[in-house]
Amino acid sequence: MKTKTIFYCTQCGNETYKWEGRCSACGSWNTIVEQPDRPSKKTASIRESGSARRSAKSLSQVEAGEELRFSTGMKELDRVLGGGAVQGSFVLVGGAPGIGKSTLMLQICDYLCRSSSVLYVSGEESERQIKMRAKRLGVERETLFVLAETDLEDILDAAGTLLPNILIVDSIQTLYNSSLATAPGSLGQVKDCAAALMRLAKGKGITVFIIGHVNKEGSIAGPKVLEHMVDCVLYFEGEQHLAFRILRAAKNRFGATNEIGVFEMGDMGLLEVPNPSELLLSGRPLNTPGACVACVMEGARPVLAEVQALATPTSFGMPRRTSNGLDYNRAMLLLAVLEKRSKLRLSNCDVYFNVIGGLNIDEPAADLAAALALASSYLDKPVPGDLAAIGEIGLTGELRSVQQLGQRLSEVRRLGFQKCLVPARWKGEPPGGREIIPFGNLQAALAAVL
Ligand code: TYD
Ligand code: MG
Repeated sequence: MKTKTIFYCTQCGNETYKWEGRCSACGSWNTIVEQPDRPSKKTASIRESGSARRSAKSLSQVEAGEELRFSTGMKELDRVLGGGAVQGSFVLVGGAPGIGKSTLMLQICDYLCRSSSVLYVSGEESERQIKMRAKRLGVERETLFVLAETDLEDILDAAGTLLPNILIVDSIQTLYNSSLATAPGSLGQVKDCAAALMRLAKGKGITVFIIGHVNKEGSIAGPKVLEHMVDCVLYFEGEQHLAFRILRAAKNRFGATNEIGVFEMGDMGLLEVPNPSELLLSGRPLNTPGACVACVMEGARPVLAEVQALATPTSFGMPRRTSNGLDYNRAMLLLAVLEKRSKLRLSNCDVYFNVIGGLNIDEPAADLAAALALASSYLDKPVPGDLAAIGEIGLTGELRSVQQLGQRLSEVRRLGFQKCLVPARWKGEPPGGREIIPFGNLQAALAAVL
């Protein structure tokens, strides 16, 4: 068989047939390396043993039922997967190191092992370490098999012999195929190992979860090489020093991608947070100036968040402005509108914004709450504790309608808020009983509340 040499860019993954000093796709210098492109013995044998050569079928001949789903025992994870994991699917769980990916995967083993067999392969920890962690998380089952291994061939062998229902690989960056010349974690290795595991998943009907570390730029193993191969891509996000963790689907062949799962990291591992609003609002100071509750959509779920602001007189010539959790440009826009339309002299103030719980708000629906919080701090008058505010603010100070206001109002009501400010143009049905106060512009809302 003829062996062709392929070169690829370690930055963007672009493949070429000759070496170049500069990648023609992404323009990076000195990133092209050689990758001998021969199929490994093992992957070739999987193909032979897996199935005979296939021929094309008419779509009407293809048998199709609903995909078989099973629960992972964690509702938050099931939700993100689109209502449970699909049998034989290939799922990538990505996230920064230390965020809790291994913990999550080991924790679901407990439930999964009640009805299935699971092989947990770790290239990062020894079997003893896995055992200790499992013990701490309360996972001790006969049908949970562990293997501390990084050689792809040995892993495929073990999986082929054991034929588990579920295979978990922690992490894809530690695996290596010895027939490739490149180092573990390099693009070629990651691609090749993922492809081999994929063939295993599809050939033998094993559900495979692979863990992938996300690097500084936020992509898995350099460019997004794995995303197009797998059925689902889940990202685990959160701030290291905060307990709050959010699981998001970036891609899902079997469901929507707008759902999120919320977890809290504790001493006993990850706890599900079915009511994130309650967690975010717990310990909220009441009747203190400088805070207001907003309702933002996290995927399809409305979440209440406390936006805080602080305005203090500037002691240097140039006022300081920082924003945590709120888009900086959005915050500056609100500042300008408050200064110009509501005559607050904020140009003489240092201004700080903060969203509690490490939540990142990326929609304008929190504008009104942020503006109220800032005005409340400036005027030193508290926003009533039983009031929430929803609405986007335009440059003329007008309040503009936001999407899914009905859903947001239900969440506001569920958490016991008596009053909610909304944009005047909203024509929906107010969900039962609570006082919904429509305003046309920011000035009127400020005058009424503060
Ligand atoms: P881990 O799952 O190892 O992260 P990853 O696999 O994404 O790199 O979790 C790492 C952090 O979680 C670690 O800093 C310790 C913390 N942790 C807890 O706080 N409680 C626990 O019960 C466990 C298992 C971990
Ligand atoms: Mg880990």
